[in-house]
Amino acid sequence: MTYEDTTARDGTTSQATTIWAEELIEDEEMEKVSYFSLFPKLVYSSFLGRDFTGTEKEYTEILSRNTNRNSSNSISQNINVLEHPAYADIKNWIIKNLNNYRDNILNPKFDMEIYLTESWVNYTNQNEQHHPHKHSNSYLSGVFYLNAIDDDTIQFFQDENLFDIETNKYNLYNCPTWNYPVSTGQLILFPSGIRHGVPMNPQNKTRISLAFNTFLKGKISDTRTIGLKI
Ligand SMILES: [Fe+2]
Repeated sequence: MTYEDTTARDGTTSQATTIWAEELIEDEEMEKVSYFSLFPKLVYSSFLGRDFTGTEKEYTEILSRNTNRNSSNSISQNINVLEHPAYADIKNWIIKNLNNYRDNILNPKFDMEIYLTESWVNYTNQNEQHHPHKHSNSYLSGVFYLNAIDDDTIQFFQDENLFDIETNKYNLYNCPTWNYPVSTGQLILFPSGIRHGVPMNPQNKTRISLAFNTFLKGKISDTRTIGLKI
């Protein structure tokens, strides 16, 4: 199976054809070789599936009036935007997705939840970008796209491999960055420790994303020496 993505090592969105690991070797003499993906990282995606209401649009506009400058773009002064009644339905839907992640990805043995800690809105205007960063003091981070630009992406960075070997063809294992396509109404969740950023916005349109952090609450483990209830 082949597929297209927008992987690029320099932050630009070039089209690169990638192949799954199972197809890496085409030599018939090597046909018994197989690959196994060990401890893969997961990016979760879900779509709201409806247009924004007038109340939601109005609140997004109100938040844009009070922002602070980030390295290259702006961030709402309000860092608990999901607590506002105007975003109540969006918040409930995000919580459903967090619960879905907990139940189907983590499948915990004991009662626990992934709860929202802080939430804010990012505004990236033309010729601005969002600097690469990680989210400290958070378990899982999320981004919900209030106004994506055309062909929008979030860029993830691979920090564990110290070698950056120039390659002819990208695949899941040899790319230093990964540009993941996103669009308005989409929610993505990813481990907070993955460094990520947004390439420069070339369009005369403000890219608006709602970001949030989470933490764990409840009984995590009752195994001796690593038992944890928080
Ligand atoms: Fe972020």
